[in-house]
Amino acid sequence: MIGIYFSGTGNTKYIVTRLLKNLDNNGEVIALEDKATIEKIKNNDTLILGYPTHFSNCPVYVRDFIKSHKEIWKDKRVLIVATMGAMSGDGAGCSARILKKYGAIILGGLHVKMPDSVADSKLLKKSREENLRIIENAEKKVDLWSERIINNRFPHDGLTIFHHIGGLFGQRLWFYSKTKDYSKKLKIDKNKCIGCGKCVELCPINNLSLKEGKSTSNNRCTMCYRCISLCPVKAITCVGDEVVEQIRLSDYR
Ligand SMILES: Cc1cc2nc3c(=O)[nH]c(=O)nc-3n(C[C@H](O)[C@H](O)[C@H](O)COP(=O)(O)O)c2cc1C
Ligand code: SF4
Ligand code: SF4
Repeated sequence: MIGIYFSGTGNTKYIVTRLLKNLDNNGEVIALEDKATIEKIKNNDTLILGYPTHFSNCPVYVRDFIKSHKEIWKDKRVLIVATMGAMSGDGAGCSARILKKYGAIILGGLHVKMPDSVADSKLLKKSREENLRIIENAEKKVDLWSERIINNRFPHDGLTIFHHIGGLFGQRLWFYSKTKDYSKKLKIDKNKCIGCGKCVELCPINNLSLKEGKSTSNNRCTMCYRCISLCPVKAITCVGDEVVEQIRLSDYR
């Protein structure tokens, strides 16, 4: 078994790694954007696919990846993991429906609540204690379902018609434009940017480059929040206008 993850601030990577370790100690965990991922998927029948929920949807980059490599999914047995800050509706279902079209067999869906990665929203900010509690509960959920999966019982989070309706009416219909395509909304404060290049190096989809010593977005952002969470001078924002607190799983685990 392999674990494929897309992760902005580390939550999904952490959850997929823990789940895979529980299910198959020899399994390999690999980032979706890694060059070797396609070959690894081709060579493995069973996989975990993990990603964060973005506006009750699967991130545009993940949907794009699945659709751009239609041919690799036939007969693959896929367990989908969607992490989320609060509510995901049918987060797992959003990729399950596409994968099924390309012949994948969906084993199950697991929704896991984690710290909210949106660093530039006061509304979503939680205390460190609260985030620690959330992570502990997430770990318990993953461990519980690992035992059940080993006994051939799979979770169905996000996969039923009720989840679909919840995801659609809960958020996706209202925020559809935000997740339809890559975003042009990333803002880089050129007065704050010190041109260190860290964000350029870290962007999983090469959306950033240095121009005249300042980071610049090429307007193809999947809103993963990795650069926003790691810029040393908090120069980058997206949904909000100011970084309230940079959120990184590595500050917790
Ligand atoms: C642009 C964006 C939109 C998000 N939308 C949702 C959402 O609709 N529902 C939710 O529960 N969490 C939402 N979140 C929170 C993330 O899904 C959650 O923090 C996730 O665990 C981040 O995982 P990562 O660190 O692997 O990227 C959103 C985060 C971002 C950056
Ligand atoms: S990480 Fe921040 S300071 Fe460094 S280049 Fe990117 S925006 Fe500028
Ligand atoms: S520009 Fe930043 S938020 Fe957008 S995809 Fe790259 S790292 Fe993620």
